[in-house]
Amino acid sequence: MCGIIGILGNEPAAPRLIEALRRLEYRGYDSAGIAALSATGALERVRAPGKLKNLEAELETTPLQGTQGIGHTRWATHGSPTVGNAHPHVSGKVAVVHNGIIENFRDLRQMLEGKGHKFETQTDTETIAHLIAANMQEGMSEVEAVKAGLSKLEGAFALAFLFEDKPDLMIGARKGSPLAIGVGDGEMYLGSDALAVAPFTNRVIYLEEGDWCVLHRESYEIFDAKGHPVERPVTIVQGAGAAAEKGNYRHFMQKEIFEQPDSTARTIGAYLNVLNQTVTLPEENGEAIDWKEITSLQMVACGTAHYATRVAEYWFEQVAGIPVKTDIASEFRYRDPALPRTGGLAIFVSQSGETADTLAALRYCKAQGLKTAAVVNVPTSTIAREADLVLPTLAGPEIGVASTKAFTAQLSALAAVAISAGRAREMLSRDAEIRLVRALTELPRLISTTLALDERIEALARDIAKATDVIYLGRGVHYPIALEGALKLKEISYIHAEGYASGELKHGPIALIDEETPVVFVAPFDGLFDKSLSNLQEVAARRGEVILISDEAGLRAAGEAPAHRIELPDCDPFIAPILYSVPVQLLAYHVAVEKGTDVDQPRNLAKSVTVE
Ligand code: F6R
Repeated sequence: MCGIIGILGNEPAAPRLIEALRRLEYRGYDSAGIAALSATGALERVRAPGKLKNLEAELETTPLQGTQGIGHTRWATHGSPTVGNAHPHVSGKVAVVHNGIIENFRDLRQMLEGKGHKFETQTDTETIAHLIAANMQEGMSEVEAVKAGLSKLEGAFALAFLFEDKPDLMIGARKGSPLAIGVGDGEMYLGSDALAVAPFTNRVIYLEEGDWCVLHRESYEIFDAKGHPVERPVTIVQGAGAAAEKGNYRHFMQKEIFEQPDSTARTIGAYLNVLNQTVTLPEENGEAIDWKEITSLQMVACGTAHYATRVAEYWFEQVAGIPVKTDIASEFRYRDPALPRTGGLAIFVSQSGETADTLAALRYCKAQGLKTAAVVNVPTSTIAREADLVLPTLAGPEIGVASTKAFTAQLSALAAVAISAGRAREMLSRDAEIRLVRALTELPRLISTTLALDERIEALARDIAKATDVIYLGRGVHYPIALEGALKLKEISYIHAEGYASGELKHGPIALIDEETPVVFVAPFDGLFDKSLSNLQEVAARRGEVILISDEAGLRAAGEAPAHRIELPDCDPFIAPILYSVPVQLLAYHVAVEKGTDVDQPRNLAKSVTVE
């Protein structure tokens, strides 16, 4: 959601804050703002609605001096994205930036208004500034005022505070939303993630739930939720600097789609022992799973990550014989799910590892005594830290808001875990294991071959871009890929799209078919192809514009019925859903480019959904 940066430095802060905000803009981009402390100790701020470039333009006319400042890029929750609602918010001698939601802000606001505080915005964040300012007006020091204020806040927050006349002080706090300290040489930083502070330092301290910190240029102190001083480890972060560059690509999403041969290879490499063709789970990242003891598997995630679990559901049931339930985290956490008393394992899948609903679901399962594992892309994230076992995806930082390489990395990791489970439960023979391991090993090469279809898909996208509705159909393990294809298209091109199980066509969606409606079939020539072909004929008979994504045998069998064909290389059916994700990503990407939408930062979306 929102992105936070704080710099307690020795060089002009404004350009550095902008540089960091650019790296955080993927988290939210409704408005942005910075506040800095002038040479005389005054708080000065500049804010602008819309993208960061508007703030940069504003800074040209109103430059900010000072070497110490805080910045924010916003994803609106309370109040529309206006200049007035943009952060930082200021009251008295306090400026604050916030990521999260203060649930009791109405009560606090009423209490503060009763004390004479005048509110200028509709935001929950302004309440925090007034709360701390009120404490200071009562004689508390800055640190005491923040400590007392934090104890009154309910909800989720990551906060960075700057204070008038305090040229060597910055305070940060986290509860429910991520925040990290960057440790520099005679400088200190705060950031929503390591990516934000990467241009300045690679030494990062991830604050834990309830922690708050007091920073000076040469030192820092960290306190836990009870106010006790605590030590947190300094992590050396590798490679976050380069990740924020687009290189020769036009968009991050395009770059990330094309990185998939590497990102899947890296992820698979963490699980496969290619020499003896086995899977070994990374047990050093937590407790081992005794698969023989597992009687049921609960998988929980949101959005694209949820679709990864929907694919994995087929794998775990077919390959390992484990009954699986998959849930959307926001539903799971509020429906008092009945969980097994023994033998249950819950797997949480998240690129960011910070998604609020997924994290809440993890905590719920842990409280119920379930063993938990997390398939996460950010190893230092809260979900990774709180799960019993981490199953990493090595996709590297994903900047494009629409998830692509993280999805195929999630699928790659889950496929490997399913093989491992199948073998441990003696559902898979050694020969079958070797076949599946080989299939996974071939995946990166097959993705490369598929990426060569880029121009062909770009040409097709010019046609699809004219549609107002698109339907995606798939059967079996490709049904979730149809769902993912539809999600990708709608989120970045704003074309209405729906994914269905092909078998559901006749139960309703067929009423939508006419010559204006492209229908994308995700259908390799597998055991279910004949069934898909019947559905394809039904669509063609109603003059629907069929796009068939299949292999050579599938396209041959389909004859003249499809208006458009995309031919993927032959592959083992086990890895087909991973491979078939690539053309649906490319299609969505090129349609969005054709329509001229903001591919990397689509409207209303944010990368890391840290509020529910
Ligand atoms: C869609 C997309 C989202 C995320 C979802 C979960 O392209 O990116 O649907 O998949 O918000 O996010 P993570 O995986 O960070 O928990």
